[in-house]
Amino acid sequence: MSAGMEQQRQQKVAQEQDEAEEMRHGPLPVEQLQASGIASIDVKKLRDGGFCTVESIAFTPRKDILQIKGISDAKADKIIEAASKLVSLGFTSARQIHEQRLEIIQITTGSRELDKILEGGIETGSITEIYGEFRSGKTQLCHTLCVTCQLGLDQGGGEGKAMYIDAEGTFRPQRLLQIADRFGLNGPNVLENVAYARAYNTDHQSRLLIEAASMMVETRFALMIVDSATALYRTDFCGRGELSARQMHLAKFLRSLQKIADEFGVAVVITNQVVSQVDGSAVFAGPQIKPIGGNIMAHATTTRLAFRKGRGEERICKVISSPCLAEAEARFQISPEGVADVKD
Ligand code: GTP
Ligand code: MG
Repeated sequence: MSAGMEQQRQQKVAQEQDEAEEMRHGPLPVEQLQASGIASIDVKKLRDGGFCTVESIAFTPRKDILQIKGISDAKADKIIEAASKLVSLGFTSARQIHEQRLEIIQITTGSRELDKILEGGIETGSITEIYGEFRSGKTQLCHTLCVTCQLGLDQGGGEGKAMYIDAEGTFRPQRLLQIADRFGLNGPNVLENVAYARAYNTDHQSRLLIEAASMMVETRFALMIVDSATALYRTDFCGRGELSARQMHLAKFLRSLQKIADEFGVAVVITNQVVSQVDGSAVFAGPQIKPIGGNIMAHATTTRLAFRKGRGEERICKVISSPCLAEAEARFQISPEGVADVKD
């Protein structure tokens, strides 16, 4: 081969690498471990065990890796060492974290008032919980986000697909078409970009997250919805006797969701119902409502929003807890085209 041809070949390889780098969206597929000396048969075992990305291995406790069939102590150590080298796990400067946080995308809710108290919209990379009584608009917001997450960044979108886990059977694609129209998007394309699964029980709901992660490795998703995250827990676990088993299962499910938010930088939105709590204070303040899931839920979610009904189609959202938002309230409206500002 002449020197000229060799130079051309090298340029082509470099160009291909650049293109591959550009195509890469965030997480590293678990197959990358092969380049670090992990045998392809072991990589396959990891994938079959639900670990689709290098990040998922780096973030997981060692004992979970050991639970995978055919992975010995020595292999686990080698795998963890290889994954840890590829993913940054140590200290970094606050300045770098600040710069990373500036890159976090917010997805518009469809209501400017609501976006304002959320400082842009629903945050990617963390879990937002929406709780509220029936018909308070939780499912309607989920539908709206499935469309807005597909918008360009300059329009308040996330330039990605949506994933929808439906535990209540209330998903209506027809609504997405109406919402797509409002944002000038092509209806059939919008539907094509929403991956939908009905969850039938809590084990199934958890298993769906494994499939979800493997799909997210392949394509860029911006949003993951679980509507509702707790409904199946109320039917699968009954009474006080099963409370601790229920809470443990729920905690594990929420941890898996957090992992998905961390690994893929998607906005995870979960809805939650409320129960009336009649205690001493109710005598003075009327019945108090509280979200399901207790401390486990409260600690697992980064942002908690409470929805309540206003007059007619009007709804009110209150920021209950967040690492950086004020405890503000905003009014919005449910319209045929999804969540919108109240028309006064
Ligand atoms: P649960 O799942 O029962 O806990 O309630 P939710 O909070 O999910 O309520 P959801 O988001 O389903 O909101 C239902 C409300 O949206 C009802 O008051 C409906 O009247 C309203 N709604 C649903 N579809 C439309 C529509 O096409 N147009 C208008 N204007 N309102 C709608
Ligand atoms: Mg609902």
